[in-house]
Amino acid sequence: SLNLPLDLVIFGGGGDLSARKLLPALYMAHVHGKLPPKTRILAIGRQDWTRERYLEFVETHSRPFVEVKSLTPEAWQAFLSIFEYVRVNVTSAEDYARLATVSSGAVQRVFYLATSPDLFTQICESLSDAGLVDEHARVVLEKPLGHDLASAQAINDAVGKYFTEPQIFRIDHYLGKETVQNLMVLRFGNALFGPLWQAPYIKSVQITVAESVGVGSRAGFYDHTGALRDMVQNHLLQLLCIVAMEPPVSLDPDAVRDEKLKVLRSLRKMTVADLARDTVRGQYAAGAITGEPVRGYLEEDGVPPRSDTETFVALRVHINNWRWANVPFFLRTGKRLLKRQSEIVIEFADLPFSIIPNGPRDRSNRLVIQLQPEESIQLQMMAKEPGSGMQMLPVSLNLDLEKAFTERRPEAYERLLIDVIRGRLTHFMRRDELEAAWTWVEPILNGWSQLGDRPRTYTAGTWGPAASSALMARDNMTWSEEI
Ligand code: BG6
Repeated sequence: SLNLPLDLVIFGGGGDLSARKLLPALYMAHVHGKLPPKTRILAIGRQDWTRERYLEFVETHSRPFVEVKSLTPEAWQAFLSIFEYVRVNVTSAEDYARLATVSSGAVQRVFYLATSPDLFTQICESLSDAGLVDEHARVVLEKPLGHDLASAQAINDAVGKYFTEPQIFRIDHYLGKETVQNLMVLRFGNALFGPLWQAPYIKSVQITVAESVGVGSRAGFYDHTGALRDMVQNHLLQLLCIVAMEPPVSLDPDAVRDEKLKVLRSLRKMTVADLARDTVRGQYAAGAITGEPVRGYLEEDGVPPRSDTETFVALRVHINNWRWANVPFFLRTGKRLLKRQSEIVIEFADLPFSIIPNGPRDRSNRLVIQLQPEESIQLQMMAKEPGSGMQMLPVSLNLDLEKAFTERRPEAYERLLIDVIRGRLTHFMRRDELEAAWTWVEPILNGWSQLGDRPRTYTAGTWGPAASSALMARDNMTWSEEI
């Protein structure tokens, strides 16, 4: 029951993710009365800090990320009052014993592992040895969940020794975004698109997650990771699954995840020969973002001088099933692109035959689902140009979701943390899904290293290497902002 004492135990409590995302999300949940009444937050860190010292950390590093209009001094103090800090050296049994003492009053525990995945095994084993893992316990695993298929399996095996699958919440914060969840309602709450949602009525799908930020202070992590592992293996493939999956029989976690798994298993495997044609790797060079000069990737702090890590990737992907045969899915993501913009573009088939003289340009119907920075849905269509002639022009039906609904729109992490507390698994990845994603991604990584090509450079503040446009041009298509 939600009235029982709950401890949220955050490993990596002094880390960047906790500071910028988790704690601000928990504050919002707290201030809106979404946390069960007897919740405590046990922040776990390596530093030998007192509780007061940790609260100073929260003050300086988390408070600036809380939206100002929800912040009052009283609510903030009330939030801080639910914190404890426990120093744990992950290899020390005594430290876990101390944690067990601090947490002895809790009936339910959620362990959030926001540490390097190298530590997951050790942490789970030690928690179990300290008697902290019972049938009420839940564990949240942050990405990156592995570096390849073998390491993902190793993590899953290790965690699976101590937690059953329904106790494991593999987080992909894109699944907590309002517009991503709305995509399910768009598809399965409207009869309109159902019959058209397939080949040949859909001609192509584009999924773009563009960022204007660079690698920042994360070079140590990022340089071993690259855009394919950091963004495509998880976020972009999850978006692709929601666009492409068959209607699930219900919204139950396994019903939804079964359908996503089928999509992942249907992805056409890329051979080394396909890579030159269907993939583009890029790396940003010095340039400018909104007029401000920025460094190139190789000049960033902590990046090895000749690194060939990709900061951009574009892919042409096929799904081998009845619904999507011959419909290309174009995926693209990168850092230091022109602007922060994430969108899914469904391009419908061309007119079979046109009896109406063209406007400035013939265009197909497109459904554009924008996730970031604004949340909107647009349906691009043709309308008659006013006047005495009979010409057509493109127009767009616009739904601005932020204007349409005045309700508060919780951030992804807040929504997902509440799901964990309530035990709702629908928006988390199941083990077989994660492994299917790695199974498809791994040959691309291996093929790239076999070919040994350096990534193409692109100027920071552009849409990536020219080869990315060429990838679409071959199918007579363009990325949506290039129109
Ligand atoms: C994270 C990646 O998973 O997602 C980051 O590790 C990336 O590199 C981030 O910047 C993007 O998330 P959002 O919510 O800002 O689009």
